[in-house]
Amino acid sequence: MKRVFPTLIQHFPGSRSEMKEAVSEALRIGYRHFDCAFVYKNEAEVGEALKEAMESGQVLREDLFITTKLPPHYNDPALVREALDSSLKWLKLDYVDLYLIHVPFSIDREYLKAIGEEKMYQKPEEPDKFYTSMDHSKIWQVSPSVRTVTDELIEAFFLLYHFQGMEKLVDEGLVRSIGLSNFNQQQIQHVIDNCSIKPANLQVECHAYLPERELLNFCNQHKIVLTAFAPLGSPAFAKATCAGEPVLLEDPVVKKVGDKHKKSPAQVLLRWLIQRNICVLPKSVNKVRLKENFDVLDFALDEADVEEMNTLGTKNLRYFLYEPSEDSPDYPFPRSKAA
Ligand code: A2P
Repeated sequence: MKRVFPTLIQHFPGSRSEMKEAVSEALRIGYRHFDCAFVYKNEAEVGEALKEAMESGQVLREDLFITTKLPPHYNDPALVREALDSSLKWLKLDYVDLYLIHVPFSIDREYLKAIGEEKMYQKPEEPDKFYTSMDHSKIWQVSPSVRTVTDELIEAFFLLYHFQGMEKLVDEGLVRSIGLSNFNQQQIQHVIDNCSIKPANLQVECHAYLPERELLNFCNQHKIVLTAFAPLGSPAFAKATCAGEPVLLEDPVVKKVGDKHKKSPAQVLLRWLIQRNICVLPKSVNKVRLKENFDVLDFALDEADVEEMNTLGTKNLRYFLYEPSEDSPDYPFPRSKAA
């Protein structure tokens, strides 16, 4: 089985050249799994670094695992293909290994265009116009089991106009597998109940303060690989936006376990997730920390360490709440009282 190493590269506030250099450095260290997204606006730089590495013979395409994501203003079967085509063009690839629906909430593309794309992350003034309520199984594909002659005719009409859901991308070899991100259990179940190709992967925030045990069990039952974003608890984001909340990388339990193994807190946090068979996406643009996050395969947490780490899960602390999106009918988390 091909081994997929710890991953990096998501949204980060660095310059474009810093981004490309981080990918090149990661490739030199041995990273082979890169996580991108249409909305991160990083695909061109990732693509340039990958292209250089492949052209110089440093890596082969088949050794890479590239993920990217469908943005919320393309959550529509009519727009899926267009979004993927853009990502492939920026990445300079003819296929991606994994394509995820980035978030369950869907934004009206024309309305967003009219008010300005920079407003995508702000609380909308007119939520009814901003959000559409798109059935996720339609973005995926209509299940053959529920097809009638009418459905077949509708589908033929859709295909004529290049309306293609996620499953069609697999059929055409443009993506190797498809999955979901930031979906809750009920939303995933709805896709499973109405699909031909099951989601292969679920990417969610997951770390020692948010262990997502129930969701992991659910994924295991359905043979869905769980991938953790923010595995280190995104320290800079946590400090900037979650004032008063504990910072996971500074937790004394994590430090104590690390001291025992002569490993850093970040390495302990990654190792704890890997031992739960969770794929990890630590982000870094720093050469030393890139290497540090990669060196997590030469030690193991024992039962006592795991037990101690598990106590942190009682905090159940989610740093990424996507609060401006609480007005969407598809908001995946319990809403705050203010909404
Ligand atoms: P930097 O890019 O300067 O290394 P997460 O992956 O949980 O979202 O966390 C990403 C953040 O954690 C980035 O701000 C990154 O900063 C920092 N970071 C990444 N690796 C480490 C590490 N090994 N030790 C401390 N901070 C780290």
